[in-house]
Amino acid sequence: MAGVLHNALEVYWDNTLTPSRENEFPLAPHDEVMAGRVDAVRYKRQNRRLALKSWKVMVPELLGLSESAGFSEGPSRVQICGWGLGRDLEWIPKIVNAGFQVSVCDVSSVACTTCQIFLDRRGVGNVQVITSDLEQAWNNGSIHDEQVLVYYAGQFVQNQSEEEKDTAMEHFGSFLRIPTQNGLGRRVYLLHARGEDNPPDKVRWRNTIPYSDLELRAPLEKGFGGPVLMEVIARHRYYHQCYSFLRIGGAP
Ligand SMILES: C[S@@+](CC[C@H](N)C(=O)[O-])C[C@H]1O[C@@H](n2cnc3c(N)ncnc32)[C@H](O)[C@@H]1O
Repeated sequence: MAGVLHNALEVYWDNTLTPSRENEFPLAPHDEVMAGRVDAVRYKRQNRRLALKSWKVMVPELLGLSESAGFSEGPSRVQICGWGLGRDLEWIPKIVNAGFQVSVCDVSSVACTTCQIFLDRRGVGNVQVITSDLEQAWNNGSIHDEQVLVYYAGQFVQNQSEEEKDTAMEHFGSFLRIPTQNGLGRRVYLLHARGEDNPPDKVRWRNTIPYSDLELRAPLEKGFGGPVLMEVIARHRYYHQCYSFLRIGGAP
């Protein structure tokens, strides 16, 4: 969450992701909850819609990559930033079957346990789960960028402070510069609530910062050292919030 010290981050997210009397619908839009417009049926339906949309967008994107010439020479890792409730990540078993290696990094042990339960239920055995702050995982070598072909961060950047967002986006930019053995271009996918699509008179966030394209692009291009290609490949409405799937790669 924006502005929370790292040592408090895990506690914050563990509480945010755990259902309780005060938090009946984890990650449901705060303003809708306050207005009494979230109930169990609608919450389940909205989460299901998000899961289906993410599948529809991400499976063809990643299967397309896995079918490209040279894919088997690597790198073939998909690095997930933030599992949360895993609402947008049901496609993981499908891409593991297609030959991707997968690693998940989340600071919350609740999220990592939820992830592990999901993987066990689906019989997916070889996914790495790192319980850590992302920046820490970069700094202590838990994540090796050369092995990563794709970063995926869903509803993640919007929960970082401006400084953390800049660090993450700059890191993604420098990641995109690293050449690959198989010649495939590295990519970053974001599922993000863009400022452009979520004006404050329509959506009132609690701890989310709906960064604009410009706010994402500036640190990204600093890390990359030049222009990057950042495309909205799909949009999705979660309650009244507008989410975009962004595909980011080095400019052709
Ligand atoms: C909003 S949730 C992600 C929601 C997920 N897309 C879903 O649909 O369930 C954000 C997740 O990122 C994790 N997170 C936030 N900041 C982090 C950081 N700096 N490093 C690692 N994990 C972080 C939180 O613990 C949380 O599980």
